[in-house]
Amino acid sequence: MKIAIIGSGYVGLVTGACFADLGNEVICVDHDQEKIKLLNKGKLPIYEPGLLELVQKNTKNKRLKFSSLVSEAVKKSEIIFICVGTPPRDNGEADLSAVEAVAQTIAKNMTSYKLIVEKSTVPVETGLQVKNTIQEFVKKNVAFDVASNPEFLREGSAVYDLFHPDRIVIGVESKRAEKILKDLYKPFKVPILVTDIKSAELIKHASNSFLALKISFINLVAQYCEKVQADISKVSEGIGLDKRIGKSFLNAGIGFGGFCFPKDLSAFIHIGEKLGLTSGLLREVLDINESQKNIFIKMVEQALWNLSGKKIGVLGLSFKPDTDDMRYAPSIDIITRLQQLGAEIIAYDPQAIPKAKSMLKNVKFASSAYAVCQNSDALLILTEWNEFRELDLKKVKKMLKRPIVIDGRNIYSPSEMKSSGFKYYSMGR
Ligand code: UDX
Repeated sequence: MKIAIIGSGYVGLVTGACFADLGNEVICVDHDQEKIKLLNKGKLPIYEPGLLELVQKNTKNKRLKFSSLVSEAVKKSEIIFICVGTPPRDNGEADLSAVEAVAQTIAKNMTSYKLIVEKSTVPVETGLQVKNTIQEFVKKNVAFDVASNPEFLREGSAVYDLFHPDRIVIGVESKRAEKILKDLYKPFKVPILVTDIKSAELIKHASNSFLALKISFINLVAQYCEKVQADISKVSEGIGLDKRIGKSFLNAGIGFGGFCFPKDLSAFIHIGEKLGLTSGLLREVLDINESQKNIFIKMVEQALWNLSGKKIGVLGLSFKPDTDDMRYAPSIDIITRLQQLGAEIIAYDPQAIPKAKSMLKNVKFASSAYAVCQNSDALLILTEWNEFRELDLKKVKKMLKRPIVIDGRNIYSPSEMKSSGFKYYSMGR
């Protein structure tokens, strides 16, 4: 099949590379010419495990191309995926101006039937707007369909997730659109749920909101644990063994970040309020998420008393492991607050330092986890990269000025840390 992907960010690039790998002819488009130049040189603007190999393989066999021209991609393709950004406005509402602009450009360049698929996460009823926009700008008598096909890709395992989805959701209005998307997804042996467009749009927002709710719920329970000295890891395990609840997304810590949960939740709240619905439950999810960072800061103050003049080592900056993405990373608020309280910060992250440099001021960046420990008053864990689980703790203890570890992701065992001579703090244990 001939596919155009408009918007070559995380979602667009992974989707385009994977569709090409399945044998389709794909053109990935982006208005950022520097990004396209980089991609044409076989390099990636982001770090995502497995993606570079996939891009290089499929550009070599000419199934994957990159271009900055939407017009060319539209002309050469039958299916057009809209994967542009939908960033939040100050009031939480999703900014859909890029989606609108792309819909207009697609319409103006259509000379034969096209299936236009929204993959960007958008509020319910965006499909209707896309359809109306295309209808208005398309030349007469050119047929088209609009569909919704939300992605459920986690950064850090996006390539794996694309090839191994739990389900595929397609929201369509015609049999023709349904057949094209079912053919495209034929190689996947998973349930394909066919819905109307609005339901598909809601499935995406509701899924992310529910996952965020699960995280905030367990973080609230961690606050209970903290008060009565219970152990959130055990509580979490006990809850998760109930099949109706499930084990995943029950890890307590400094909260969720990234460019999906905070943004999607705010957009879901906004559209709900616009529809006259109550938003208390979802607002509380965001509030609890914020409170986790305050709890962590208080723990640092409890351990070090005055932060003025103290040197604090930070391990992990990205919003989660296996990505270099710093957007809405809890590390940003936490480090900024510690600096306001007078601390000097030295930090290390396996991938995110280049991006962190433009987002964090006056932070010294180290070249290894051990270099962060050297002469620091305490060590903080803000992202659970595997290499931090494997540290030589004897060496860490020797290098630290004081043997204090404050773990925002609960990666070490409290009893082992205690017997190794650390003063160890973690979330809800
Ligand atoms: C998410 C969704 O999972 C994915 O389906 C989607 O459509 C895009 O948004 P992503 O943001 O990449 O993916 O990461 P995810 O693994 O879902 O984690 C989100 C945040 O929640 C991270 O900051 C992570 O650290 C945090 N988290 C996750 C927890 O704090 N506890 C958990 O138990 C799980």
